[in-house]
Amino acid sequence: MSNSSQPNDRLEQAVAILECGGIVAVPTETVYGLAANAHDADAIARIYKTKGRPAFNPLIAHASDLAMAQVIGEFDDLSLRLAETFWPGPLTLVVPILADTGIAPAVTAGLPTIALRHPLGSMAELAKRIGSPLAAPSANSSGKVSPTCARHVQDDLGNKVDLILDEGDCKVGVESTIVKVDDGKVVLLRAGGLPVEDIEAVVGPVHRSAGNPRIEAPGMMLSHYAPSSPIRLNANCLTDGEALLAFGAPLTRDAPQLNLSPSGDLKEAAHNLFSMIKQLDALNPLGIAVQPIPETGLGAAINDRLSRAAQGTR
Ligand code: TXA
Ligand code: MG
Repeated sequence: MSNSSQPNDRLEQAVAILECGGIVAVPTETVYGLAANAHDADAIARIYKTKGRPAFNPLIAHASDLAMAQVIGEFDDLSLRLAETFWPGPLTLVVPILADTGIAPAVTAGLPTIALRHPLGSMAELAKRIGSPLAAPSANSSGKVSPTCARHVQDDLGNKVDLILDEGDCKVGVESTIVKVDDGKVVLLRAGGLPVEDIEAVVGPVHRSAGNPRIEAPGMMLSHYAPSSPIRLNANCLTDGEALLAFGAPLTRDAPQLNLSPSGDLKEAAHNLFSMIKQLDALNPLGIAVQPIPETGLGAAINDRLSRAAQGTR
């Protein structure tokens, strides 16, 4: 599905805006990104400003394909194997950046590495049409939950962006998995839309990052994804005034609630996660109690985002 489902004239409009240094909200299979030409320093500066994003937190560059990514990053054998196996898809690879790429320095926030991804859909198509990677963080104000539909972007960033391409709901619903090959080992920097088990089936054991996550993946701050209502994890009862985010059989039916997946399907739960957090938060409950979610497969990414959301509201 490298072709997008956008009408051609909307894509052409997006191309024209990106070529003039504008910023466009573009869907991927994971979440919506806020995209600019990765070579355009002014446009990249505007992305940081629009999101209120700290300058030390680098962006992911989205390529039209592996060949475009290899013009910018140095791929060792393992990184190449991962790209060939999982691209296009919800996997970001952090690799050393090559010399003289012309990529705006702010994209990598001064790091000697760059995060690269070949996503599905319009983002890759636009990178192809402008002949340059698109730098794109998730299209939300810094510290907020990532958008999984055009309405989320509209509500948060609205007229601060030049165009929002609406392709409906993102299929995966959580951000990409980020890995880096270090000393011949694959290191997980962020759990995400590609289950670690799938990566391990191809390259063997994946190491959890031993370093400080603020340095390894600087955006992984504990206060990320903060809704306004306090979040309580692994709930096995409900207190007065709390709303329930259920998974599987609900704890109770006597409270405002949404169910991530009544059948206990982790893919469905990931797809619904951000949207349901936003919907429950909008009810202004005293808190949001979340039922336990298994740590396997996409559960790792779901639990990671939920625990950040819980930290952020403490
Ligand atoms: O699914 C996704 O990954 C979405 C879509 C739009 O592609 N993007 C996304 O971007 O989630 P963002 O900016 O919200 O998160 C990117 C993460 C941040 O935690 C950032 O610190 C990390 O990637 N990152 C970027 N470049 C890095 C690098 N060179 N080394 C380590 N971490 C890096
Ligand atoms: Mg983000």
